[in-house]
Amino acid sequence: MAKPVEVMNLTKNFRHPMKVWDKIEAVKDFSFSVETGEIVGFVGHNGAGKTTTIKMMMGFIAPTSGEISIFGQNAGSIEVKKKVGFLPERPYFYSELTSMELLKYFGKLSGMKGSSLIDKAEKVLRRVGLYNDRNRKLSGYSKGMLQRIGIAQSIIHDPELVIMDEPMSGLDPIGRREVKEIIRSLKREGRSVIFSSHILSDIENLSDRVLIIEKGVRKSFGTVREIVRPENIRFSIEFGGPDEMKDAAFSLFKGIRVSSDRFIIDCQDLADFNSKLAVIVQKGYTVHDAKGVYPSLEEIVFKGSSEAGHE
Ligand SMILES: Nc1ncnc2c1ncn2[C@@H]1O[C@H](COP(=O)(O)OP(=O)(O)OP(=O)(O)O)[C@@H](O)[C@H]1O
Ligand SMILES: [Mg+2]
Repeated sequence: MAKPVEVMNLTKNFRHPMKVWDKIEAVKDFSFSVETGEIVGFVGHNGAGKTTTIKMMMGFIAPTSGEISIFGQNAGSIEVKKKVGFLPERPYFYSELTSMELLKYFGKLSGMKGSSLIDKAEKVLRRVGLYNDRNRKLSGYSKGMLQRIGIAQSIIHDPELVIMDEPMSGLDPIGRREVKEIIRSLKREGRSVIFSSHILSDIENLSDRVLIIEKGVRKSFGTVREIVRPENIRFSIEFGGPDEMKDAAFSLFKGIRVSSDRFIIDCQDLADFNSKLAVIVQKGYTVHDAKGVYPSLEEIVFKGSSEAGHE
């Protein structure tokens, strides 16, 4: 069976608005794929190329070169549209409509009608927490409510793949948590989700795989564990001992730090960690904590990572 998304050597250049001889390379020759039931997070700074990639996957703009296959078919084709839901970066809906009217409108566009459309619209409104507001006009909705109605329209037709451009943007922590829960529930139903975000902690705890885009270039693609590779783990040991052994502790290794009543030593790698641990135990100190900590995705992205992960 064809994968929900297969992108190969995708490139998009825009004409420069001022300098006609110049071009803007928004997306440069990158490839990735999305498996069924997988959540893939796009992360990158402003202007990295996230929205441009999403627009090409939706068939709104044509790639300069490269291939996009959505369920084995061309992006933007009618067959693909039936299977894909989309939440734009800045959704705009006619504000005189109620959320119920809006969902009925989008449902009809997907060929739904009658009582089954009403049932479905009510179910989706409950799912996004807007059922009690279903007969209110969108003009009276808060930003968070508008974001949720945007999500509702993207899933009204039971798409197999949902593409969301910044679904958590501008939401407070509770709103973000609710949207994350909706995304997780889509995965539980076997759907695939692609979403973009600047908030690395959201990407980190929601995505099965992460695509890090930097200035149009794929920087990394893989699970969070693959991206924050084992060689980036920071090992440290916390230990202590009776007062008469404390002065001697400083001569054990260079770089010992003191925190409250304990000594902390950072280690270069696993071998260094094991040998230092052996010395500490052999000299009769008490080990309070010995661990290897993975850096966060944030540290990796801001530190600048090299290509990691796989297709
Ligand atoms: N229609 C266009 N014409 C010219 N340049 C464009 C056009 N659309 C996007 N760009 C440029 O392409 C680059 C990528 O933009 P894109 O909107 O894809 O970034 P993004 O990662 O979605 O950023 P953000 O986080 O701000 O939403 C930017 O330099 C942008 O200015
Ligand atoms: Mg964008």
